[in-house]
Amino acid sequence: MTTQVRKIAFIGAGNMTQSIVGGMVSSGYPSDQIYVSNPSVGKLEKMADSLHVHTSQDNAEVANAADVIVLAVKPQLMADVCKALTEQVENLTDKLIVTIAAGIRIEKYRQYLSPDIRMIRVMPNTPSLVGKGMSGLVADDRVTDADKSFITEAFDGVGATLWVADEDELDILGAVAGSGPAYFFEFMASLQKAAVALGFDSDKARTMVQQTALGAAEMAIASDLELEDLRKQVTSKGGSTAKGIEQYQAFDIDKISDSAVKAAVKRNQEMAELF
Ligand SMILES: NC(=O)c1ccc[n+]([C@@H]2O[C@H](COP(=O)([O-])OP(=O)(O)OC[C@H]3O[C@@H](n4cnc5c(N)ncnc54)[C@H](OP(=O)(O)O)[C@@H]3O)[C@@H](O)[C@H]2O)c1
Repeated sequence: MTTQVRKIAFIGAGNMTQSIVGGMVSSGYPSDQIYVSNPSVGKLEKMADSLHVHTSQDNAEVANAADVIVLAVKPQLMADVCKALTEQVENLTDKLIVTIAAGIRIEKYRQYLSPDIRMIRVMPNTPSLVGKGMSGLVADDRVTDADKSFITEAFDGVGATLWVADEDELDILGAVAGSGPAYFFEFMASLQKAAVALGFDSDKARTMVQQTALGAAEMAIASDLELEDLRKQVTSKGGSTAKGIEQYQAFDIDKISDSAVKAAVKRNQEMAELF
């Protein structure tokens, strides 16, 4: 249940905004305190009809109406969107600014908006679109505890939230949780291919793989055991699973994950230089 209510404006009504606002409204957040802007009208009409939020094609109108502004446009549009807000929005530095755009650092927003803004960066991941997201959050030192708990509640509506110490940690979280769904899909697709290679049709192979992934994830969440111990629990000595695991270990699965995460962190750091 929502414990704090503030007027909150979303700039950009894309997939992520629709999911976050949907999550907030279904957790009991009053829709008349939510404002959304977008250039094209179709998404706004859909959100007004289904979620009963205020909508406008004018970013400044919703930003002026709100105490919290969530920037939810693509990173390449962010500089222009912010510049227009500085020209058209009063008391920007009194408002809490939140961004969900990948890659752009808080220091850049200080240049785009004002050196005096108070800001939270959130890094959601794609499963947020089905309410099972993992969002990393980082705040600058002007953000209050009340600001943090307000934004935590908003993003808890689309999954789990994890505060990190600084933006370097957010790059690491992005390399694990932001990119992670792709790693899991890659692994799932490879298991599916292995089943197909042994004669299964693709649909049946997919059903086996996805249900197994879901079951394993839910067991991991429900259990207090370390992941490695859970793995051991389903690996009887001399059994078939042990033979399968031997193959993963022979190709050093830890090394593969270590290289993948380091490569993604490096790319996150490089991308921060682009904007
Ligand atoms: N989707 C994810 O899983 C994910 C994960 C992590 C982070 N993010 C970040 O979240 C942000 C939004 O992602 P998304 O997936 O929701 O993207 P999206 O579906 O493409 O939504 C972006 C929205 O911004 C609107 N827009 C374009 N120009 C605008 C402007 N000048 N003012 C206001 N709105 C404008 C677009 O409207 P039109 O379509 O009408 O042009 C579109 O509805 C991005 O920065 C992305 O990096 C997304």
